[in-house]
Amino acid sequence: MTRTPVNVTVTGAAGQIGYALLFRIASGHLLGADVPVKLRLLEIPQGLKAAEGTAMELDDCAFPLLKGIDITDDPNVGFAGANVALLVGARPRTKGMERGDLLSANGGIFKPQGKAINDNAADDIKVLVVGNPANTNALIAQAAAPDVPAERFTAMTRLDHNRAISQLAAKTGAAVSDIKRLTIWGNHSATQYPDIFHAEIAGKNAAETVNDEAWLADTFIPTVAKRGAAIIEARGASSAASAANAAIDHVHTWVNGTAEGDWTSMGIPSDGSYGVPEGLISSFPVTTKDGRYEIVQGLDINEFSRARIDASVKELAEERDAVRGLGLI
Ligand code: NAD
Ligand code: LMR
Repeated sequence: MTRTPVNVTVTGAAGQIGYALLFRIASGHLLGADVPVKLRLLEIPQGLKAAEGTAMELDDCAFPLLKGIDITDDPNVGFAGANVALLVGARPRTKGMERGDLLSANGGIFKPQGKAINDNAADDIKVLVVGNPANTNALIAQAAAPDVPAERFTAMTRLDHNRAISQLAAKTGAAVSDIKRLTIWGNHSATQYPDIFHAEIAGKNAAETVNDEAWLADTFIPTVAKRGAAIIEARGASSAASAANAAIDHVHTWVNGTAEGDWTSMGIPSDGSYGVPEGLISSFPVTTKDGRYEIVQGLDINEFSRARIDASVKELAEERDAVRGLGLI
């Protein structure tokens, strides 16, 4: 049976994450090895030529699953019929820019893109926001798309999730594949909280296995939370291949489901669970099945975790208030 291609729109397609992402989407890693895709590359006018170069390279791979590539700088065209949208392009913070300036500059990108998704995307659209500040950019886009169910707008904390698994594996000597049920809570920022109290290493509780609260508080959490800055320091550019890999993981898990007994972390609109104010786009532990996700309920949150979740959620509430003040939501 010939399957209808899935329309995947990538913004910021000519950027460094875009370059690491597009070839994996086209080769079947995003949705599955039997799912044909059509790519839409959305760029700003200055990025169109480089996007055309990337499209030439995509052609040159002769990917059997790639059924077409369109390139545009018009969001209404870029999101027309989109089933999956990866919002990667964003305005980076430059020298002398205040946080408010950054939020305002990104509002100028994510508000019109949210509206274009609202007006043009397919009914089953799923949106992942990668461009920073990812959680609040997702909130801006979602607020501009009142006809799309709010839960379709998600923000990426899967890179943080993967980073935390890798750090925990290095500390304990476990294989990454033995680590399950890790959670990133809150914002994709330095306030995020990687939680190992419910995580398991080869079936045993991770916090009990580590049994070292000083390592947890002084090494593990800051290493994971500040890893993005450490990569920028080392590479002279922000993480790209690992960010693209996490975007692939996020959408693949959302569409294809979490493994039995495991969960993942996604930035999603809060339903009020775990005391996170409703509507904030915050990272939670989620299971996924048949293209839908659910927050894992009933986890016991100890004092150590509560303080850290609250601190990150407070930052998210402040970002929401700032963009509200700017008239962006
Ligand atoms: P980059 O500067 O290499 O590329 C960004 C691209 O976006 C550029 O080609 C630019 O022309 C394009 N762009 C800008 N505005 C656009 C718009 N309105 N529409 C379409 N395209 C637009 O940046 P990058 O390294 O690819 O990173 C992209 C974003 O991802 C940054 O905001 C970065 O901070 C963020 N990021 C997030 C995570 C995460 O875990 N959530 C991790 C790494 C990077
Ligand atoms: C990351 O976590 O690697 C990025 O969000 C860092 C950044 O500021 O781009």
